[in-house]
Amino acid sequence: MTSISHQEQQKIWDKEHLNPHLLLPMHAQEASSGVIQFWEWLRDKQESLHGIEMGCGKGRNSIWLAQQGITMTGFDFSPVAIAEAKQRSHLAGIDKNITLLVHDAITTWPFKNESFDIAIDCFASTDIESATGRHFARDEFRRLLKPDGYLMVYTLSTEDRFHQSLLEKFSTEEKNAFLHPTTGKFEKVFDREELLDFYCDWNLIEERRIDKVATFFDKEYLCRHFWMIFQPKKQVSVQ
Ligand SMILES: C[S@@+](CC[C@H](N)C(=O)[O-])C[C@H]1O[C@@H](n2cnc3c(N)ncnc32)[C@H](O)[C@@H]1O
Repeated sequence: MTSISHQEQQKIWDKEHLNPHLLLPMHAQEASSGVIQFWEWLRDKQESLHGIEMGCGKGRNSIWLAQQGITMTGFDFSPVAIAEAKQRSHLAGIDKNITLLVHDAITTWPFKNESFDIAIDCFASTDIESATGRHFARDEFRRLLKPDGYLMVYTLSTEDRFHQSLLEKFSTEEKNAFLHPTTGKFEKVFDREELLDFYCDWNLIEERRIDKVATFFDKEYLCRHFWMIFQPKKQVSVQ
């Protein structure tokens, strides 16, 4: 098998959220280091922010950002993940500062144009199994962000050792993508050129590589994740 349907991908994610075994940090309560870096970069720039996280999973990032004072909205297509995120936000006592909902990123997002100041894609578009779906999600980010808003993209790279090994053996028809050998889950990894091409209608405001050691199945691998902040390019109106 070298491809997967959207329904299959969603089922695999719901199962992973129910019985975490593949991506353990996603089930932790601590925010991702990429999101913490974004907040540190952002916090003196603007006040009273509204933020959105696509594919928020069990809410570790959205809940943490809400605790920092941002009014957050997080959504995920996994009902299991959102139920857990709601419970966690309730326990954290920040219900009023956060909206969590089940929604699929590849169908129109239920929010008004230009209603958010910041947006987060923390390893989420990497899990959308079609290029069309990823393009759709990117364009929804653009529709919902205010013109001076920021999108933070934290994502996998072709230089991550674990993902390199999977790309060698389990690649799909799409470039730099593989189906995970145990779950069949689709993952897309990126090289820098692909990312810049994908975000060609956005200005790259800040870029870092985040080097870290990640453990997959009891083995340590070096990772070189991409961390990028984009802002929508101004649309030129033709008279
Ligand atoms: C790698 S996890 C990252 C979760 C979260 N951003 C974090 O850092 O903890 C990817 C998340 O994207 C969600 N996801 C994948 N495809 C999606 C889609 N089409 N719509 C909404 N959520 C999706 C998955 O359910 C999963 O929770």
